[in-house]
Amino acid sequence: MLEDRQRQLDILLPTFHDLWHPQPFCQSRPQWCHGWPALAEDLLTLADADVAHLNSDGAAALALLARHIPAVAEITALVELPQRHRGVLVEQRSSWAWEIPGRKKQQIEAFASASQCGGNSVIDWCGGKGHLGRLLALQWQLPVHTLEIDPVLCADGAALASRQHLDHKFLNIDALTAADWPKRGQHAVALHACGDLHRRLIERGSSVGVARFDIAPCCYHRGVGGTYQPLSGRLRSTLKRDDVRLAVTETVTASARLTLQRDKEMAWKLGFDCYRRVISLDDYQSFKPVPAAWFRGSFVEFLTLMAARQALPQPASTVSGEFEAAGWRRQREVMRLSIVRHAFRRALEVWLALDLAVYLEDRGYRVEVGSFCERQLTPRNLLISAQLG
Ligand SMILES: C[S@@+](CC[C@H](N)C(=O)[O-])C[C@H]1O[C@@H](n2cnc3c(N)ncnc32)[C@H](O)[C@@H]1O
Repeated sequence: MLEDRQRQLDILLPTFHDLWHPQPFCQSRPQWCHGWPALAEDLLTLADADVAHLNSDGAAALALLARHIPAVAEITALVELPQRHRGVLVEQRSSWAWEIPGRKKQQIEAFASASQCGGNSVIDWCGGKGHLGRLLALQWQLPVHTLEIDPVLCADGAALASRQHLDHKFLNIDALTAADWPKRGQHAVALHACGDLHRRLIERGSSVGVARFDIAPCCYHRGVGGTYQPLSGRLRSTLKRDDVRLAVTETVTASARLTLQRDKEMAWKLGFDCYRRVISLDDYQSFKPVPAAWFRGSFVEFLTLMAARQALPQPASTVSGEFEAAGWRRQREVMRLSIVRHAFRRALEVWLALDLAVYLEDRGYRVEVGSFCERQLTPRNLLISAQLG
């Protein structure tokens, strides 16, 4: 039962709250560094290649953590979910997808082959140009509606559908206020509809009697205020918005250039933070978004712009090198200490997905949660499949 798995995870997560909640970017030494000094030491002496690997492979990070804190190992089995059975797609020609980038096309095909046709008309929730809806219309030969807020995407999608003479229509409406959709008896599919968009589909859809759901959620934090409000009732774990965001910060495709750029932006922000702390002796303050152009000049220019924005005294050009070096030192530490919170990313994501799944179970659906593709294709690879009755 999904509820059992949910309960076990919900008991475990709060016991490790001090490991996954603190952000080393904001706190130079999270409290756990004092409780587990050998762990901190191990992390801080890791080679760069190991840091990159552990930050992107949650299972490896969890295994490292479990060597120091054995109880953490209990999480491993709870976050392992089965691969969904993948049926054969009848639509083998690539002409249905001539304009979709390769990775997106593979995600859509994986989602479609893991979803089972129940003979119901389909609503493709927040479907963009309706690529998934179009493939399902071809595959299942059933009427499909794609609901999408952006009129340009709707128009493009409608043109693609008419080229293939499909019964595939577009609803250019807001999913959050749509009163008449989804409809009773429909099969609702949603590939990467963000936070409140997938929650709305689940709440409204289950209340009107949607027959089937296939939902691959993403960006669970979208629409969350201060604290995540579980749908499935009162749970022990309390997730702040940043904790919910942590669940989806994993990426699998950053190029070497983008990685370098990300490292530099982090180092420069931390360099400014060091400067601010010396000048105003304050604790960490959150950053407003920094314009991308500010990272294109020199560090001293960046520091000058940031100091002006925060109404701090202008830095002398002679000290900027010192703060730039301090920023890079902090960046190396942040990347290493963050491995601890990244070890819990999948556990938080599974907890969030189980909240949706158990909510549906409580409303009479038979629900399965599994992965519909490898995480290299998309890290948001969880699929919640539910059937009424
Ligand atoms: C991440 S994309 C996913 C698109 C598509 N399902 C896919 O996988 O290619 C999310 C889509 O939701 C749409 N969207 C955002 N807010 C919406 C809203 N309030 N109502 C309907 N659609 C919305 C966006 O315009 C975007 O096309």
